[in-house]
Amino acid sequence: MDLETRDLLDRRRRLMGPNVSTFYDDPVHIVRGQGVWLWDRAGTRYLDMYNNVAHVGHCHPAVVQAIATQAATLNTHTRYPHGLVLDLIENLAGRLSHGIGQAILTCTGSEANDVAIRMAQAATGKMGLIATDNTYHGNTSAVSQLNARRPPIGGPARHIRLVPAPDRLAPVGGSREGQALAFAAHIARAVADLEDNGSGFAGLILCPAFCNEGLTVLDPGFLAQAIAVVRRAGGLVIADEVQPGFGRLGSAFWGHDWIGIAPDIVTMGKPMGNGHPVACAMAKPDIMAAFRDVFPYFNTFGGNPVSAAAALAVLRVIDAEGLQENAARMGARLLKGLRSLRHPAIADARGIGLFLGLELVDAGGAPDGALAARVVNRMRATGVLAGVMGRANHIVKLRPPMVISEAEVDLALDRLAQALAAER
Ligand SMILES: Cc1ncc(COP(=O)(O)O)c(C=O)c1O
Repeated sequence: MDLETRDLLDRRRRLMGPNVSTFYDDPVHIVRGQGVWLWDRAGTRYLDMYNNVAHVGHCHPAVVQAIATQAATLNTHTRYPHGLVLDLIENLAGRLSHGIGQAILTCTGSEANDVAIRMAQAATGKMGLIATDNTYHGNTSAVSQLNARRPPIGGPARHIRLVPAPDRLAPVGGSREGQALAFAAHIARAVADLEDNGSGFAGLILCPAFCNEGLTVLDPGFLAQAIAVVRRAGGLVIADEVQPGFGRLGSAFWGHDWIGIAPDIVTMGKPMGNGHPVACAMAKPDIMAAFRDVFPYFNTFGGNPVSAAAALAVLRVIDAEGLQENAARMGARLLKGLRSLRHPAIADARGIGLFLGLELVDAGGAPDGALAARVVNRMRATGVLAGVMGRANHIVKLRPPMVISEAEVDLALDRLAQALAAER
């Protein structure tokens, strides 16, 4: 690590407090980005195989221009009517089905989920929420109650039930074939529990592709039984599209369309503004009306014209550059490459579009987080930035900007193969 990076880390500790995490043993001090590439201070370039926020590529000129033009013209909030935010909602509504067409714009995915939860509670008059026990939906006080990895201060809330997350190595119910049914049975038990303890059941929130769980489900149709349980109990379905949305999965624009469910509320964030903080919760009109009746919601920065311009530019770039199709093609190439890797630690290679994982285990077949960490650190040393995911952080996560090319996919595969070979 060079002296300047060491100094930055010292200042971070002094100014931001302890435990502010960085990626990699030798953190990268990035100063510039373009497309799928990042440059550090010394001019070394890195292939970004991780960042789903820079969805249409780092510093895409059309998005930069849209932000700059609108920032130089006007920036206010939604108490003044402005056409851009309406253009954005119309554009998003045109990509959604199931009667979902109204939106509340926020600045983060956490806020969007916070709103979504309150929408479900307002519409049902019940409090109870169900999520998986290996997920992350955000950091507000209400949403962080859904985070099983760090239980909330004071212990788990009465109105929250976390059901076992689908898993490839240790499937819920003991077998991959029986997993969907077993998952649905856990939801049914959680609903009964919430009704018994007086919370009632407001809804199920999940990422349709189970991204934070480690991309553990690859079968469209998996959720049919679970959703039937939710419907029978009168609950709502919230699809958290913060990770799978905006075409990343290749074959569908949204995760819920890919897996084949009809949500009542959809939330989105991360890729929506290509790095500009814009997110949103969208719902059916009756649910929105129930929410607006109870909460006079206002968000100073949510839905400002600059954010709307950024998000509209992202949508236009996705269409103009055929990025959903690129995700399908490049994802297939990457997956084929992952499946051709040979190493005793590889338990599974999987992917949906441009979201892929390589699951690593030790000699006893147990998740090997230490190995995954070594692999991504080795990749970083050879100029490719990847991440980890899964219950034990044992799955190498590949989730690059959607503009990646064949040559860049091949480079990433080559560096991953090298990193694995060094671990024999
Ligand atoms: C599935 C999911 N939902 C919501 C969030 C929260 O988004 P934000 O960090 O913008 O608040 C995240 C962040 O990682 C996420 O992965």
